[in-house]
Amino acid sequence: MLATPDSRDALAAPPARGPVHPGWLRAMHWLNAVAVFVMVASGWRIYNASPLFDFAFPAGITLGGWLGGALQWHFAGMWLLFANGVLYLAMNVATGRLWRKFFPLSARGVAADLSAALRGRLAHADPRSYNQVQRLAYLFVMADIAVLVVSGLVLWKSVQFDLLRELLGGYEAARRVHFAAMALLVAFVAVHLAMVALVPRSLLAMIRGK
Ligand code: HEM
Repeated sequence: MLATPDSRDALAAPPARGPVHPGWLRAMHWLNAVAVFVMVASGWRIYNASPLFDFAFPAGITLGGWLGGALQWHFAGMWLLFANGVLYLAMNVATGRLWRKFFPLSARGVAADLSAALRGRLAHADPRSYNQVQRLAYLFVMADIAVLVVSGLVLWKSVQFDLLRELLGGYEAARRVHFAAMALLVAFVAVHLAMVALVPRSLLAMIRGK
């Protein structure tokens, strides 16, 4: 569907009295959070069956109970993460929201906002607009999830996705890329939750739109 300028505005930039985040975005954000939880917790269980490094994740914080169960969770969560992610990106591109909310972005702007944030001087007066650090963090996590999906495809069907496998440097390298992207995603979520705790109003807006 091609969005006209009017329909774009209605979807991406609601009038000042409309919801801070459109309903479709809120639904997709929470579906994504569920999918990420399922993927990470079951992924840790799968990792434990054949650890890459000299440690295992405590069984109590993993999902699936055993390798077979964890794989079932991982494959179920994968479809949700993939379908929801593709729809999220398509909606953001089609409505123009991607450019409006996450750009412009500059190294200078990120440095200025980061330094203001660290000094406790970064205003969060307008919940409709993301500061430069948020823009960078959200674009980063979108790219990180894309890397997780691509490297996951290689681990899942390494024979069929042989070109992707070779691009990532082989099966073992794809495992390391998948692990590193998971660690970065977990780091993002930790910082994300700390930021949300600092501005609880933003959580209400992501739940009920205002
Ligand atoms: C678990 C994985 C998660 C990921 C990958 C994630 C990712 C994101 C992204 C990309 C955005 C920007 C969305 C947009 O405008 O298009 C966002 C916004 C937001 N997220 Fe998450 N999120 C996650 C979990 C959570 C959780 C668990 C919470 C709360 C408990 C949360 C609360 C929020 C809030 C409040 C905003 C809006 C921030 C603001 O207006 O300043 N997120 N998240």
